[in-house]
Amino acid sequence: MDSRSALNDGNKWHSTHKIYGTLSELHTASERRMESLPVPSVQAMVAATGGAHVPPRYLRPEVAADAVASDGEAAIPIIDFERLLLHHPEEEEACRGESARLHAACQEWGFFQLINHGVPDDVIEGMKANIEAFFGLPAETKQQFAQERGQLEGYGQLFVVSEDQKLDWADILYLNTQPPEHRNMRFWPDKPDTLRSALDAYSAAVKTVADRLLGLMSISLGLPPEGIASKCGGGGIQSVRMNYYPPCAEAGKVLGFSPHSDADLLTLVLQVNQVQGLQVKRQDGSWVPVRPLEGAFVVNVGDILQIFTNGRYRSVEHRAVINAERARLSVAAFHSPSIHATIGPLLTDQEPMYKTVDHQSFMRLFFSAKLEGKSFLQRMKLNLDTASATTTN
Ligand code: OGA
Ligand code: NI
Repeated sequence: MDSRSALNDGNKWHSTHKIYGTLSELHTASERRMESLPVPSVQAMVAATGGAHVPPRYLRPEVAADAVASDGEAAIPIIDFERLLLHHPEEEEACRGESARLHAACQEWGFFQLINHGVPDDVIEGMKANIEAFFGLPAETKQQFAQERGQLEGYGQLFVVSEDQKLDWADILYLNTQPPEHRNMRFWPDKPDTLRSALDAYSAAVKTVADRLLGLMSISLGLPPEGIASKCGGGGIQSVRMNYYPPCAEAGKVLGFSPHSDADLLTLVLQVNQVQGLQVKRQDGSWVPVRPLEGAFVVNVGDILQIFTNGRYRSVEHRAVINAERARLSVAAFHSPSIHATIGPLLTDQEPMYKTVDHQSFMRLFFSAKLEGKSFLQRMKLNLDTASATTTN
C-alpha cells in the first residue's frame, strides 16, 4: 500500500475516533527530536578499566531495595505455537485450549514464552553467532556503524535525553529490518560478513511468527483474523534491537535496561547466550525473572496492542539486570503498524480509554523521553476518570 492510500485508510478511522494529532498537544517542543544523546560504549569502558569502577552515572541505589521473586515462585506462561495451529477436527480441543491460554497470558502477564515456533534452528543460530561476533569486534570497527545525530539506527544507545539522567549498562545495535525498503544499509554491519544475510533471514522469519500471533490474537479478541493487521497500514514494520550487556563488578547497583514497556504491538526476544537478566514486573510491584527455555522466544504485548485492545491486553513493565561475571546478549524484534497508521482503540465495545493519534507523533513522543516505567502510556490515556489515569496501568 502506498503512503497516500495508507493515509486514506487512516482517514476512515478519523470519523469514529478523535485525533489528537499534533505532538504539541502531547509533549513539550524541546523533546520532539527523535534521537538519543551520544554516550560512551559500556563495553569499551569495561575493557579499559576491568569494570571495577562504576561511574556515578550508572549507579542506581534504588535497585537494591526491589523485591525479586525467587526460583519456582512465579513464571511467565509457556505457549506452544504448534498447538495454536492445529486444525484437524480431532485436535480442535487442544487448539482451543492453547488459544485460551494465549488470550489469558496476554491479559494477565502481557508476557509468555513461545515454544515450537517453527523458525529453523540454522536461522536462530546464524543470528546468535553473528551478533556475538559483531559485539566481539574491536571498538573502532563497531564505531563505523555508530548512530548519527538526529536518528535512531546504528550502534549506540537509545532514550538518553539529558546529560544528568542515569544510564543503562549496555550497548546496542538498533536497525529497521522489515520491510526491506525501510532498511538503511549504512548502519547494517558488513562485519562479520554474514551478519546482513543472517539478520535478513531472521527478521523475515520472526515477522511471520509475529503476524500469525497477531492473527490468532485478533480471533481471540472477537475480531476477524486480519482485524489487527488491517489497522497496520499495509503489512506493518519491524525493527530489531540487539542488546549487549557487559558484566559489572557491582552488578547489583546498575541496570542493563531501565524499567520500560515496549511501544510496539508485539515484541519477540531471543536470548542469545546462557546468561539471564530479563525481569517482568508483577502487579504487586515485585520482579519475576524470566528463565528462557532453549530455543524459545520471549514474547510481550507492547503499548500499541494495549491501546488497540483498549486495555484488555497488557503491556507490562520489564527491565534487564546485569551479571557480575558474564556478558549477556539478546535480540528484540519489535513489530508495529506502518508509520502511516493511526494508533487508537480498535475494540469499540467499551468507552475508549486512550487517545487516537497518528503513528509518527506516537513514535516521536516515545523516543524523545527517557524510560520511566509506563509513564509514556499514561500520556496516551483519555482523562475519563482522573483517579484511574494515575494508576500504573
Ligand atoms: C527490549 C528489552 C530485554 C532483554 O529490547 O525492549 O526489553 O532481555 N530487552 O534484553
Ligand atoms: Ni523491552
